[in-house]
Amino acid sequence: MKQASSRPLLQVNDLCIEILSPAACFPIVRNVSFALHPERSTALVGPSGSGKTLTALALLGLLPKDVSLAAGEIWFAERNLCVDPGKALRSVRGREISIIFQDPQPALNPVFRVGDQIFDVVKTHLSLNSTQAKERILALFERTGLADPAQVYMSYPHQLSGGIAQRVMIAMALSCGPKLLIADEPTTALDVVTQMQILSLLRKLQQEQKIAMLVISHDLQVVQMLAESLLVMENGQIVESGNTADLLRNPQNQCTRRLVDSMLAIPTEGSATEPGQVAIAAPA
Ligand SMILES: Nc1ncnc2c1ncn2[C@@H]1O[C@H](COP(=O)(O)OP(=O)(O)OP(=O)(O)O)[C@@H](O)[C@H]1O
Ligand SMILES: [Mg+2]
Repeated sequence: MKQASSRPLLQVNDLCIEILSPAACFPIVRNVSFALHPERSTALVGPSGSGKTLTALALLGLLPKDVSLAAGEIWFAERNLCVDPGKALRSVRGREISIIFQDPQPALNPVFRVGDQIFDVVKTHLSLNSTQAKERILALFERTGLADPAQVYMSYPHQLSGGIAQRVMIAMALSCGPKLLIADEPTTALDVVTQMQILSLLRKLQQEQKIAMLVISHDLQVVQMLAESLLVMENGQIVESGNTADLLRNPQNQCTRRLVDSMLAIPTEGSATEPGQVAIAAPA
């Protein structure tokens, strides 16, 4: 297995996130620290409401209005994104760090053809002329497994199935050659067959394009397929972290154990076949 390089791509130190209300501030994410390494895939797992999405949104400066970054440092390529976050994040968001969400439809503008929406992203961030930008998008569509890239380019979001729309989102997220891709529950909204296709695609592209990935999920089967490293979050804190296979075989924290137990309770057919997937030994 590839070892983590000594120099992280992204280092989060003591991140604290609060919900602001007129009466008080409520801490939601507390003293979260972790590192993401180039070309490696890390999963952030935990129960619903544990703070996974807010942590990811903080990395991109996309926290909702009533939520604030109270403390901490986010180091990316030797810059602390928490210092002058507006300027720092504008330059990395979409270009060096990109994100895909559970449901692709709200992330797409319903009144523009999908190709034109990616065209704008590519034109904004890369110095390409119109022909080069369009060629890049069609090539990306092909790489994400779209059978007819030209037709998808001309489609409006409502004309796309969930699986095709998610492939378009992946193409958009990869369009500027990011160093880090964040995938927040990327397949939860899809049917089981499409889920597997999208997960395999994400893993393949992450490895081919040598990018770091942070996958957010509460599903350990997804995590097994996609990530070498695991961060377990509960009540706004990281409660356990380490190598995915080791942690799933021998969870130390109660929360990790509960997640593993819930996975073992789901009957599955066949055995692990995907690269990176491990068989979890049932507890004796
Ligand atoms: N805009 C908001 N205003 C108030 N509270 C919020 C807001 N966004 C999130 N929260 C609260 O913050 C907590 C963490 O939310 P977050 O979305 O990060 O959880 P999560 O771990 O991603 O959960 P899930 O697995 O369900 O997606 C939750 O209790 C949630 O209700
Ligand atoms: Mg979430």
